[in-house]
Amino acid sequence: MEPALKINNLQVSYYTDAGRARALDGVNLTLNPGEKLGLVGESGSGKSTMALAMMRMIKPPGRIEGGEVIIGDVNLTTLSEEDMLKARLSRIAYIPQGAMNSLNPVTRIGAQMVDAIKAHDTGMSKKEIIEKSMESLESVDLKREVFKMYPHELSGGMKQRVCIAIGILLEPQVIVADEPTSALDVITQRQVMETIDKVQDKLGAAIILIGHDMGLMAQFVDRVAVMYTGRLMEVSSVKDMFTRPKHPYAVDLIHSLPNLENKGVFKGIPGVAPALLRLPSGCSFHPRCSQAIEICQKDTPPYQEIEDNRFAACHLFQEKA
Ligand SMILES: Nc1ncnc2c1ncn2[C@@H]1O[C@H](COP(=O)(O)OP(=O)(O)OP(=O)(O)O)[C@@H](O)[C@H]1O
Ligand SMILES: [Mg+2]
Repeated sequence: MEPALKINNLQVSYYTDAGRARALDGVNLTLNPGEKLGLVGESGSGKSTMALAMMRMIKPPGRIEGGEVIIGDVNLTTLSEEDMLKARLSRIAYIPQGAMNSLNPVTRIGAQMVDAIKAHDTGMSKKEIIEKSMESLESVDLKREVFKMYPHELSGGMKQRVCIAIGILLEPQVIVADEPTSALDVITQRQVMETIDKVQDKLGAAIILIGHDMGLMAQFVDRVAVMYTGRLMEVSSVKDMFTRPKHPYAVDLIHSLPNLENKGVFKGIPGVAPALLRLPSGCSFHPRCSQAIEICQKDTPPYQEIEDNRFAACHLFQEKA
């Protein structure tokens, strides 16, 4: 099967007065059509940076320093600005963090959808564009009437659905949703996740769901990617990640989840994530790692396949024979 998405050695730095922060440090990832991947990691680990880099939407002082993003047979990295503009929404859709709060408050939902399509000169007539927008609303379980409404007339969950509806207007092969359910109550979170599930099924798109809530994510994704200081530490199937995580950071993350044994108490991971400007030598996690060995202070572990379909960057695991 041809992968829907291939990310090779993607690198992003932010150049600040205090120095260069490598926010994305060589990320590699392959997603199949229809696959759902959850991207988790502490605040500041680089999740949104990865999404923005895939869209080529990194703004100064940030810069994409290398790597490629390939969707189907199109290498986004080498597209002209104009072609990249077309690729956004038609090949890859990004539902930004806090999207529902960035809907224009004085413009009707329908007009915002029509504008999104118009920006892409699809050759559709006005009537077709309106019909397409209404269908898109229906596919996220909103009524056609929402087309005529203003954002303030909608609940948080409905606004988030509108953002999803805008994201899927041009039937992209890859959808990246950045914390689509944060700031929503538990019930609404589930409903929004179910909606994402449904539209994804319909489109057969690959999806990257960015989030903090491992528990919620576990119910919806096929694989989980754990990010730390701009690097993927482990990528495994949900089952493997939850039943036998390999990377010590992934182990800590899973064990810090509230469960019945610890009576729902959040344990946390000792220590704090290091600032990107002052990353520890070797493996950036070594100062917090309970299993660190000598080499961890010196050499950055390569990210490699350690078992069938499991990837990790850790000196404790050798490349599969
Ligand atoms: N505009 C910017 N200028 C300088 N540094 C930035 C900028 N944007 C992000 N960074 C740095 O890049 C790193 C990654 O940020 P990013 O927003 O990708 O993290 P995140 O994983 O999405 O966090 P959160 O869970 O809080 O959304 C952070 O350490 C941050 O300090
Ligand atoms: Mg973010």
